[in-house]
Amino acid sequence: MKALITAGGHGTRLRPITHTQNKHLIPIANKPILNYALEYVREAGIKVVGIITNKDGSEVKDVYGDGKELGLSITYIPQERPSGLADCVRIAQPFIGNDSFVFYLGDNIIVGGIRRFIDEFRANDSNCHLVLAKVPDPERFGVPEIKDNHIVRIEEKPQKPKSDYAVTGIYIYDSSIFEAVNSIKPSARGELEISDAHQYLIEKGLKISYSEITGWWKDTGKPNDLLEANRLVLDNISPNIAGKVDQDSNISGRVIIGAGAEIKNSNVRGPAIIGSGTKIINSYIGPYSSIERDCVIQNSEVEFSIISENCKILNQKIRIEASLLGKDVTIIEANAKPFTNRFIIGDQSIIEIR
Ligand code: TTP
Repeated sequence: MKALITAGGHGTRLRPITHTQNKHLIPIANKPILNYALEYVREAGIKVVGIITNKDGSEVKDVYGDGKELGLSITYIPQERPSGLADCVRIAQPFIGNDSFVFYLGDNIIVGGIRRFIDEFRANDSNCHLVLAKVPDPERFGVPEIKDNHIVRIEEKPQKPKSDYAVTGIYIYDSSIFEAVNSIKPSARGELEISDAHQYLIEKGLKISYSEITGWWKDTGKPNDLLEANRLVLDNISPNIAGKVDQDSNISGRVIIGAGAEIKNSNVRGPAIIGSGTKIINSYIGPYSSIERDCVIQNSEVEFSIISENCKILNQKIRIEASLLGKDVTIIEANAKPFTNRFIIGDQSIIEIR
């Protein structure tokens, strides 16, 4: 069995971060989102992985290379333009050949890995195994209609969903999916929809089985999804303090502090993770904060936030909360007169000030 993982797409909902960074490299608990997919695949015993990337942009390849460091063999499959998930499967046919494979959307994070789904695919001798999750807003997803424990229809983003399940971003196929993705036509939005490929399989009478995710699953399409995924991952970390914590500081709850990090006269309340080389001085870091490497947080408070590498947050009077900072962001106090706010901000940023 092989794995096909997506790391292309537009990432429009995560702008402005995705203007300068591939969304799959945004850190969740200080690891790129894509790491989770790669680790699940490896845990399931799969070593041969294809990654779909945008045609121009080598960032993902620059990070993961040939995959050896992760114990994987990675092939990159560039997509001409993001034209749908079924298109990702279509262009991967030469890589997959006649094997069965896991198709995993690289921006999805779940608890408990994927091995159990592969076991069910095999036990059911299916052509296609889908992983479903109950969601409050099925109209955002592909939605199955289920009768007598069988999926009888799948609709993409239906106005009137036939169930409260979403088809999540974890699919397992045998090679019959290739006939489907080569037969369907682009949808009204011009994409080859994976739901249409599934519907094709249903209409051809092929065997579609499914599992329900019982723990959590997160599709990290929007900023709040990232914060929520970060919260869920931090809830499961094991504490480890490798950096320096001075006597005037207080660390409580599950906290990871990377090597070379320094905590001075500060209060860190877990679950939280602080990357190597980061300095926290006279500050409060509250639950569900991930602060990447080489940041400085001084005389400030941060909670429930993702702070990417090399950020500086200095002398902030109001706590920073539910925030997502890209790399090299500086938030400092303005000292010069007149007493004003001054911004140098990229396109499509969101600033909420009090
Ligand atoms: P989506 O989240 O559906 O789309 P997107 O990443 O383009 O984001 P947005 O809607 O905010 O513009 O994509 C799901 C996953 O599939 C994600 O890993 C990106 C990837 N993808 C591709 O690699 N190629 C594609 O053609 C599409 C549509 C998505």
